[in-house]
Amino acid sequence: MREKIRIAIIGVGNCASSLVQGIHYYRGRDPQDVIGLMHWDIGGYAPGDIEVVAAFDIDRRKLGRDVAEAIFAPPNCTTVFCAEVPPSGTVVRMGRVLDGYSEHMADYPDARTFLVADAPQPDQAEVVRVLREARADMVLNYLPVGSEEATRFYAECALQAGCGFVNNMPVFIASDPAWAKRFEAAGLPIIGDDIKAQFGATITHRALTDLCRKRGVTIDRTYQLNTGGNTDFLNMLNLARLKSKKRSKTEAVQSVAAIRFDDENIHVGPSDYVAWQNDNKVCFLRLEGRMFGDVPFNLELRLSVEDSPNSAGVAIDMIRCCKLALDRGEGGVLYPPSAFFCKHPPVQYTDDDAYRLTEAFIDGTWKEKLAEVAAQRAAAGGT
Ligand SMILES: NC(=O)c1ccc[n+]([C@@H]2O[C@H](COP(=O)([O-])OP(=O)(O)OC[C@H]3O[C@@H](n4cnc5c(N)ncnc54)[C@H](O)[C@@H]3O)[C@@H](O)[C@H]2O)c1
Repeated sequence: MREKIRIAIIGVGNCASSLVQGIHYYRGRDPQDVIGLMHWDIGGYAPGDIEVVAAFDIDRRKLGRDVAEAIFAPPNCTTVFCAEVPPSGTVVRMGRVLDGYSEHMADYPDARTFLVADAPQPDQAEVVRVLREARADMVLNYLPVGSEEATRFYAECALQAGCGFVNNMPVFIASDPAWAKRFEAAGLPIIGDDIKAQFGATITHRALTDLCRKRGVTIDRTYQLNTGGNTDFLNMLNLARLKSKKRSKTEAVQSVAAIRFDDENIHVGPSDYVAWQNDNKVCFLRLEGRMFGDVPFNLELRLSVEDSPNSAGVAIDMIRCCKLALDRGEGGVLYPPSAFFCKHPPVQYTDDDAYRLTEAFIDGTWKEKLAEVAAQRAAAGGT
């Protein structure tokens, strides 16, 4: 039997729910007959080869429950596309709260917010012990935006426990040279930061921006406004927590533009919380620019997606790339998957280049491909 990929989840919220549902949904499917995956096989691993061996959360409705049940507990509100998830045998444990909870949530109904459990919180040694005993290959970070201290706490635990780290949210770990160096020194792979959804606002905005660059069309101004009704959007009403998210989302678009926008000509952000939208996210995107002869144009686009399956379609590949690196004994930042799968990687590439590099990473030939991409970038006047 094929070896399993053993993951630990930090934050059993909507994204984790879609991921766990997806692992089961695709298990045993015919590879010729699947919809919604970028890869069926990565290095010999199929989606169903992933198992959750440890999970931490702070919400009293999730603690002590099998992961297969906790993913459906409130305030999770994402669509249920696989209701029959069999028990995993892994029970959700109390995490360390730190700055994972934003006080403004207390002003909203229980069904919409985190309810912090009154249970003893583990210290670093305890989390490391759990990760080691579970023989977790990697830790997946799904903490709320703005959880700076909590993310650093769990990243440190991953390092001490000898686990890889997949950072799905915008606290900068993979793109922080000091942290990147520490993972490299420990021989542990890391992918990050801030997952780029399968078909979401960022990838669409980047593709259109890249298209304009390639077609010689100038964009003068752009915005991307996003609304949603899940706890991710509720949490982001606290503007103090938003700094790194704004940076991550804005830089994802800036980095593929022909010329950097002045700050006042680009606005990218989570924009409002609309409770009844639940996990549906709506993006309103506008580009204004000029084409041949300085003649103006504008584009309006509205994209409506279910937010969490959209991230799980990417996480399912990040996990397998991280496992591939572990199998190969490769540590430090995995640059190609970080650039393809994340909004704020340490090195940005266009999505075409990031795609080709990631395919080469999977084949084990990415270092040769990198030289080719670097030469093409230099010839095109890039860096
Ligand atoms: N959906 C997407 O496409 C997408 C894209 C990019 C980034 N992200 C990011 O991924 C992260 C997860 O998103 P989500 O929609 O699952 O959020 P969520 O609010 O549904 O889940 C967060 C979970 O973390 C738990 N938590 C809070 N503090 C904790 C702590 N200290 N220790 C352990 N658990 C804690 C909460 O109880 C909750 O279950 C967010 O930061 C989000 O911005 C999501």
